[in-house]
Amino acid sequence: MTPPDRESLFRDFQAQLAQTQTPESVTELRVAWVGRKGQLTLLLRELGQISVDERKTLGPLLNSLKNDIESALTQREKSLTKVVREKALESDRFDITLPGSTPSLGRIHPLSQVMDSLVTIFRSLGFVVADGPEMESEFHNFEALNVPADHPARDMQDTFYLETGPKQLALPHVDRGASHETVLLRTHTSPVQVRIMQNYTPPIAVVVPGRVYRHEAQDATHSAVFHQMEGLLVDKDLSFSDLKGTLARFAQLFFGPEARTRFRPSFFPFTEPSAEMDVYFERPGRAPEWIEIMGSGMVHPNVLRSVGLDPQVYSGFAFGMGIERLAMIKHGVDDLRLFQENDVRFLRQF
Ligand code: PHE
Repeated sequence: MTPPDRESLFRDFQAQLAQTQTPESVTELRVAWVGRKGQLTLLLRELGQISVDERKTLGPLLNSLKNDIESALTQREKSLTKVVREKALESDRFDITLPGSTPSLGRIHPLSQVMDSLVTIFRSLGFVVADGPEMESEFHNFEALNVPADHPARDMQDTFYLETGPKQLALPHVDRGASHETVLLRTHTSPVQVRIMQNYTPPIAVVVPGRVYRHEAQDATHSAVFHQMEGLLVDKDLSFSDLKGTLARFAQLFFGPEARTRFRPSFFPFTEPSAEMDVYFERPGRAPEWIEIMGSGMVHPNVLRSVGLDPQVYSGFAFGMGIERLAMIKHGVDDLRLFQENDVRFLRQF
């Protein structure tokens, strides 16, 4: 074995090391020098075939070369890895001092806010929330509510009738054997009274917020689509004073403890006696006034009979209020179309 020249070997190695640009190329160089078949590994292996004397001098020489090579490789690898990491960081860099873009938060529509607070108030008074279909049978919307086909009271509510084939819609109400049924967009939430009484035994205490439809020309106080909330309480021995007490309490919870209410006689085919409830308002810049906020009354005996309840045993009261109207009063809005246009400049105020 020709004794290798430690210095020139190391210089060769260093020249190659200087060429490396990536941690991967350092690994390749490591394999080439000190890997299993590496240049230096092969030299070290030859040590076994030479004389003891030669080995004594060559051994430590090659071993110290190996150490130097390995530590140089490790050093280089570290610094290249650092460079790679710094480059990655640099390309990920962004300017945290740039102004951010704030996502705009939505909010609850004022009509939904009113409905939510109505529901909260009536829940606190022991009512539960129910709902019913907006596409309704004539039976539920009118007949069961004591408004027979030829009754002039049907004219109070101009109606959108829907064309249907025989039993096409199969509404989930009691099948009275008819092959045809007339279907319409409900003109009020009162048909849900009927559905509830058909399906539950008293005592019943429900409120029913929902959308209703009337064939009306649109103006500042009328709309073909609007919202109501119905209320119904059925039990034994209910009287008109229960109705008055419940609704006056509601007015205080909704408008404030000072709210004054009055009841005026009225007419609805499905309640007897019937009353409108007014609330007294003193608003800045306006003469104080009574404003009508809902219709109400004791459930008519014919309605109880239509759902199979004995009016000698059961009594009830019902009420219905317009959500748009309450929202207009509460927020001093004078045109209900604003609630439908959904102009954010309007909605942002609530
Ligand atoms: N349904 C009636 C309307 O839309 C309101 C009402 C409900 C009146 C319940 C009495 C009892 O005008």
